[in-house]
Amino acid sequence: MSRTSIHGEWSSRTAFILAATGSAVGLGNIWKFPYMAGQYGGGAFVITYLLCIAIICLPVMMAEVMLGKLGRSSPINTMYHLAVENKQSKIWILLGWSGAIAGFLILSYYSVIAGWALAYVPELALGTFTKVENMPTAEISPFVDSIFNSLTENPTKLIFWHTSFICMTMFMIAGGVKGGLERAVTFMMPALFILLLVLVGYSMSTPDFMRGFQFMFNVNFDNLLYPNCTEQACELSGDGLLAAMGQAFFSLSLGMGSIMVYGAYLPKNASVSKVTTAVVLADTSVAILAGLIIFPIVFSNGLEPGAGVGLVFKTLPIAFGQMPFGTLFGTLFFILLVLAALSSSISLIEPAVAWLVETKKFTRISASVLSGIFVWLVGLITVFSFNLWSEVKPIGGLNLFELIDYLTANIMLPLAGLLIAIFTGWLMKKTIVANELNSSVDSFSYRIWYFLLRYVTPLGVSIVFLNAIGVFS
Ligand code: TRP
Repeated sequence: MSRTSIHGEWSSRTAFILAATGSAVGLGNIWKFPYMAGQYGGGAFVITYLLCIAIICLPVMMAEVMLGKLGRSSPINTMYHLAVENKQSKIWILLGWSGAIAGFLILSYYSVIAGWALAYVPELALGTFTKVENMPTAEISPFVDSIFNSLTENPTKLIFWHTSFICMTMFMIAGGVKGGLERAVTFMMPALFILLLVLVGYSMSTPDFMRGFQFMFNVNFDNLLYPNCTEQACELSGDGLLAAMGQAFFSLSLGMGSIMVYGAYLPKNASVSKVTTAVVLADTSVAILAGLIIFPIVFSNGLEPGAGVGLVFKTLPIAFGQMPFGTLFGTLFFILLVLAALSSSISLIEPAVAWLVETKKFTRISASVLSGIFVWLVGLITVFSFNLWSEVKPIGGLNLFELIDYLTANIMLPLAGLLIAIFTGWLMKKTIVANELNSSVDSFSYRIWYFLLRYVTPLGVSIVFLNAIGVFS
């Protein structure tokens, strides 16, 4: 039953690791992780996130890569083949569909935020932030706020950068597996990592490095469980736990088909468990590094860790404004951030593009253009939720951007993860699974993985879900 991918294959195992790391490492690590950790009070969020990665997401990721490697096609068709082969209902293709939809939704706002990073490239190159060097601390925060707000309050600017980023994504995706995706990630991942290390060096030199460090690692669960505390009342909420789990899925690109479709291009002899572990380690360390860079800057300059979506865009420019060669490093950093976002965005749309090519006989180019136009249109919702529609809050006090983010990261991804665990752990033939993992059913590591996948993942996700809707409180 061995299939081959009509879209081509990675040239090596390393190429897969780079591409999957490219998918995982992106705005999720550098933009989203720090601001969420900041909003949910630091340490407890970080620990929950790390725990979710280790016991829920790592097993799901192995399963997702393995499903892709077995199916060798877009997630929708992969789920179809595997459901038939394992004598399960064809309804499992809905898992592929929900992934494609989540991918469109996520990319629609991802490209707006990546557009912010693009907009910051000229801002840094022109030395706008060198002004902070001689500024009294009290003026720094209003200054960085004003630059950020002048961008987000202006729909025309946002649309310009959003459009630019979508065009870049379409250009890359049209290039195909080897030409476009693989070439792009080979040099930019290592470069980004090196620049992050330079920034950690800078952060360590700020007066409040230890405070930032403690903020990230001092575990105080009150901050996570009571995120909406006011002077008058504290309300127990499961939102923090849900957000940490959602972030773990989001950061690893799980539950959407990105990793499944990349697995479909994996060379036959590559070991699923080794490549997966490498990707998880790389992704997690980038998130932790980003936190270690950002929080010391926050505390040293009188900013708020809970500043929200603008956190990275307000903190890092201060660092670049103050450090030697800051203009050069700063420009380079935002270029690399855009590239990291690009290597993630192509993985968000690849499942849909692969499906259009396989099933609807589109060429890669026309499939890319069609998806791009669609995502661009949906992205306008996010553009306007920062300005014209900022007061439109249909459910739970969330604006439209926050709603799309909540629906995808906190609900769709973990739910798909749960279903992947059930399909692989309970419904697939054990021998097929073990065989694909090049493992014997009795080996120790296989048994741990199988146990986590069958019991821990489904239970863990369910408990966090039930907790979020208040069943335990
Ligand atoms: N993981 C990426 C990031 O951290 C974003 C991403 C790419 C993603 N593909 C995904 C998120 C699939 C969820 C699902 O920036």
